[in-house]
Amino acid sequence: MVSNRNKFTNKFGFIAAAAGSAVGLGNIWRFPFEVGKGGGAAFLVVYLVFCFVLCYPLLITEIAIGRRAQKNPVGAFRAMKHPNWTFIGFLSVLCGILILSFYNVVSGWVFGYFVEMLLGNFAIGDNFSEYVKDIRTVGGYSLFFIAVTAFIVSKGVTQGIEKASKIMMPTLLVIILGLVIYAFTLDNAAEGLKFYLIPDPSKLTVEVIYSALGQAFFSLSLGMGALITYGSYLKKHEDIVFSGFIVTLADVSIAFLAGLMIFPFIFSQGLSTEGGTGLIFITLPGMFANLGPVLGIIVGSLFFLLLSFAALTSTISLMELPVSYLVDQHDMKREYAVWISAFIIFLIGIPSLVGNGYSPFFTNFITYLGAENPTDFMTFIADLSSNTLLPFGGLSIAVFSVYVWKRRKLFRELSYGRESFLKSWTARYVGFCLQYIAPLILGMIFIITIFETFLGIHFFK
Ligand code: PHE
Repeated sequence: MVSNRNKFTNKFGFIAAAAGSAVGLGNIWRFPFEVGKGGGAAFLVVYLVFCFVLCYPLLITEIAIGRRAQKNPVGAFRAMKHPNWTFIGFLSVLCGILILSFYNVVSGWVFGYFVEMLLGNFAIGDNFSEYVKDIRTVGGYSLFFIAVTAFIVSKGVTQGIEKASKIMMPTLLVIILGLVIYAFTLDNAAEGLKFYLIPDPSKLTVEVIYSALGQAFFSLSLGMGALITYGSYLKKHEDIVFSGFIVTLADVSIAFLAGLMIFPFIFSQGLSTEGGTGLIFITLPGMFANLGPVLGIIVGSLFFLLLSFAALTSTISLMELPVSYLVDQHDMKREYAVWISAFIIFLIGIPSLVGNGYSPFFTNFITYLGAENPTDFMTFIADLSSNTLLPFGGLSIAVFSVYVWKRRKLFRELSYGRESFLKSWTARYVGFCLQYIAPLILGMIFIITIFETFLGIHFFK
């Protein structure tokens, strides 16, 4: 299939963009609070196994589908002459919109915190619940954030997405390494590291398993077509097997580093690891305050700047989903597609924005069957998308690739740019995983999650 689509210039450009999509709030905001909730190292181990054993094969498969089809996820299945599977594409675009709607709200908080740190307002940590209720301020920041995202996406693949990622990704790595080194010097750092690194098998529950799976999918931007879309901008001779591995490794490493930085922070302050979505927002500012005014402002604002960068490279990839759909399938001009998407997504995000205390209705939005407390709108959408829809997307992609598209064709696509792949052990493993492991595990966990999370029916307690 020859196409004159705008392409990433080279391997580094693709890796930077795909790793940029993967590395985001998922690694630095969500990963630590999931680890905290999931009992520490037990969660970490399950997460790592899922990333490499189950998710990596799916990740390269998504990229291969995108490159083969040269289309957005909706058009991809039609272009490959399997129109019955177009539902995966629609689900992908829907999922992208849902995730971006709340992700953008959290990005707004992050950017707001960057400003507060610059002003030396360390007390903000104690006022987090008030801060997120201040709709004008946080709403303004999230509007700003989606506008910056839209601006970059409107510039297109090479001039916008690739350029921004190439600058932001390396900067992020440097900042985070500095903060890890600093965290190691704190009192009680060792306690934090123990919690994070030494697994306690008694903490391993079904909930830990499906949250770790959801986290692996969310963090790798998997199961919702973001990688099909980026794959469609990849040149034929680029090596997907290798690039995909680097993306997985980069994503896991940054999450791992975030844990190395945050748990010593938390333990040095004697704080709880179970702070949920507020964890980093509540715990970190006090920590920065202890550094004294000058160093505190420097470290604190660098930290939230880093998070804003990480979030931005992810919001870019999320927005590219509806945009590429509108451009490819409806011949819309890129600029229009971008601003229309941004507007709609911002509107859909309003319940998430006001559901953190400002609106009682959205704050206590739904009580899952069998649960004691209500769940807010944002958490509901996050549960729905990352723990449910993403693994379902992954399942559909695994089944599609080997049972419909066929392993031979998938492998041929994966071998462009890496001839030796066809005879390698990696290929055998990838085939086995897609054919048996992924459908079995993902199918099982999908069903368990629905029963456990939404219907309150527990199999294992
Ligand atoms: N992977 C991103 C993160 O970790 C979030 C994301 C999910 C981005 C799905 C794109 C698609 O923050």
